[in-house]
Amino acid sequence: MTVPPSSDLADSLRRLRDEARARLGAARDLAAVEALRVGLLGRRGELTALLRALGSVEPAERPALGQLANEVRTEIESAVHERLATLQAQDRDTRIATEGLDMSAPGRPVRLGHLHPIMTVERDFREIFHAFGFEVFEGPEVETDAMNFEALNIPPDHPSRDLWDTLFVAEPGSWEAGAPRPAEDGTILRTHTSPAQIRAMLALPPPIRVITPGRCYRYDAVDASHNFEFFQVEGLVVDEETSLADLKGMLQEFARALYGDGTRTRFRPGYYPFTEPSVAFDIGCLVCGGPGCPACSRSGWMTILGAGMVHPHVLRAGGLDPDRYQGYAFGMGLDRITLLRWGIPDLRLLMGADLRFLQQFWAGR
Ligand code: DAH
Repeated sequence: MTVPPSSDLADSLRRLRDEARARLGAARDLAAVEALRVGLLGRRGELTALLRALGSVEPAERPALGQLANEVRTEIESAVHERLATLQAQDRDTRIATEGLDMSAPGRPVRLGHLHPIMTVERDFREIFHAFGFEVFEGPEVETDAMNFEALNIPPDHPSRDLWDTLFVAEPGSWEAGAPRPAEDGTILRTHTSPAQIRAMLALPPPIRVITPGRCYRYDAVDASHNFEFFQVEGLVVDEETSLADLKGMLQEFARALYGDGTRTRFRPGYYPFTEPSVAFDIGCLVCGGPGCPACSRSGWMTILGAGMVHPHVLRAGGLDPDRYQGYAFGMGLDRITLLRWGIPDLRLLMGADLRFLQQFWAGR
């Protein structure tokens, strides 16, 4: 092996330093600088190759050469950084120069969202009932079987408790061996807003005058007029002298507030386990106005809600004495009322998240 004279190695180091400066100065972009950095300082770089030769010079020469090599490395490193900084600054300058930023141009408008059509209808209901002195009382969507059914006088064999109607909630881990199955632990998604009646009676002292709007769930196949989630508004009035006449007057006024003074209404006998007597409340068909059409099954009437006098068992489940208090309750679905308001033919359109569709139904509130 030939030992390189130390003065040659020193020359090579100095030459590398000068060349490195020149080459970096000619690099036009960040990628070129990076390639040069790797070529000079990397594991297989030119400086590394020279440092390897250092091992074979005379030991007495090594310290001076080693120091020179370190200086060269530091200088190349700072030349790399300087060049990077210069190129970055140039980049910024050209971007500003070519972007043509017009500081006087008006800002782009921020797109605001709006209420979903169903929520628009719900707000209307809140407003109307607010004017009649009702407050809003919301119940949970995840309910107990006891609240959703039992407290409402719905016996265990009632069809609405059927597994096919009700969605059961599985707590995380409840499917593990030995844990109760969801159907057994009694946690469900509420199938109507009526359990909020019980919660209102337990929470508020009479007289009670509440509406309980909210989302409900049923195990239902989805089609143009059904969905597994839907919206209801429930009403409950409890006082010492509340009668069916109050219920009728209230609902008639509600229908007029919602659909105008000339709205025709009628009551029919109905059946619900939680009211006695129970009624169905109809309004004149919103589509044909009376003569009969497919939308009202040619009857001229549309049923919009169920109602009745709160059953004594239900008052008792709410912690109230039925000999002292009576009340009336009503419950209605919001989805169909929303479809009718805008003449929307299919519930699935409302439930999709297509903004192009939903934005058409905005009354500007
Ligand atoms: N909960 C009933 C349903 O989902 C609606 C209903 C009917 C509610 C009569 C009431 C009522 O409060 O009195 O079909």
